[in-house]
Amino acid sequence: MVATWLSREFGVEFPILGAPMGGRAGGALAGAVSAAGGLGLLGAARYNSPEWIEAEAAIARSVGGRFGVGLMTWSLPENELLLDAAIAVAPTMITLSFGDPARYVERVHAAGIPVVSQVNTLEDLRVVEAAGVDAVIAQGGEAGGHTGRIGTLPLLQEILDSTSLPVLAAGGIGTGRGLAAVLAAGGDGVMIGTALLASPETEGPEYARARVVDAGSADTVYTSVFDRARAQPWPQRWGGRAVTNEFTAAWHGVDVDEDTLATAYDPSDPNSGVVYAGEAVGLIHESRSAADVVARIGADAERLLSRFA
Ligand SMILES: Cc1cc2nc3c(=O)[nH]c(=O)nc-3n(C[C@H](O)[C@H](O)[C@H](O)COP(=O)(O)O)c2cc1C
Repeated sequence: MVATWLSREFGVEFPILGAPMGGRAGGALAGAVSAAGGLGLLGAARYNSPEWIEAEAAIARSVGGRFGVGLMTWSLPENELLLDAAIAVAPTMITLSFGDPARYVERVHAAGIPVVSQVNTLEDLRVVEAAGVDAVIAQGGEAGGHTGRIGTLPLLQEILDSTSLPVLAAGGIGTGRGLAAVLAAGGDGVMIGTALLASPETEGPEYARARVVDAGSADTVYTSVFDRARAQPWPQRWGGRAVTNEFTAAWHGVDVDEDTLATAYDPSDPNSGVVYAGEAVGLIHESRSAADVVARIGADAERLLSRFA
């Protein structure tokens, strides 16, 4: 596989990060991605606890050796203990995404841990560069979960042309073709989330894995309706991409208050509960182990890129 910043810095076999997916990526998933030759990240949601990070880090370490931890920058001021816990488990990297990480980068660096941020615009790039991050991930609007609005490919080109930092891409990458495209463009690797969501190592309800297998690439919506129904105070600029269901059909784009949405929302109902996932759902046709997903993407990309060797 082509040597990139990821392989040089961390010795990974494949330049693939397993996304820090709040509610879905715990130690079992992160460890499996790392064991397969990538680097898996724990996704600490704002409702997780420092104890959760500690426990899942132990699982990730025992399964895969190395792992990273991903936090949401905008929510850290209400609970900086999550950052302390992430530093304390000595991960390979910490991602601080969605917000200005300036207040936190030095603390992470003091522990010898690199900081990587997902960015959604050129303005975001300038903010995280000024904060002193070590690398960036251009996260396109086709990504699952919370994201921006610019597509992965235009954003990746813009970011690659505008920074000397290592650049990875996220959003819509689910096969070796996607990884090969990013590497050929000059990127240092990819972060995959959706491609892992049908794997048995993910946390979350069984219906979420089944829906990811069923859904096609046109079956997602960029919406804030689940944040409003679940009282998650995300800043307005980041919507979440989720698979459509009866709840989005009834409420996305409808002018109603949060109480009405909260009353209508039922996470135990597969037709209502949120399944955050990106347009890469159309590439997932069966439940495969995370190790198989990572190894296949890596090997297929290698084969495609060998045409240019
Ligand atoms: C279910 C789900 C939850 C996510 N939660 C987080 C999160 O807590 N923190 C974060 O930085 N990114 C989160 N993301 C975004 C991912 O880090 C990543 O950008 C995205 O999965 C990449 O696009 P893809 O889903 O098309 O592979 C989440 C994505 C998904 C699908």
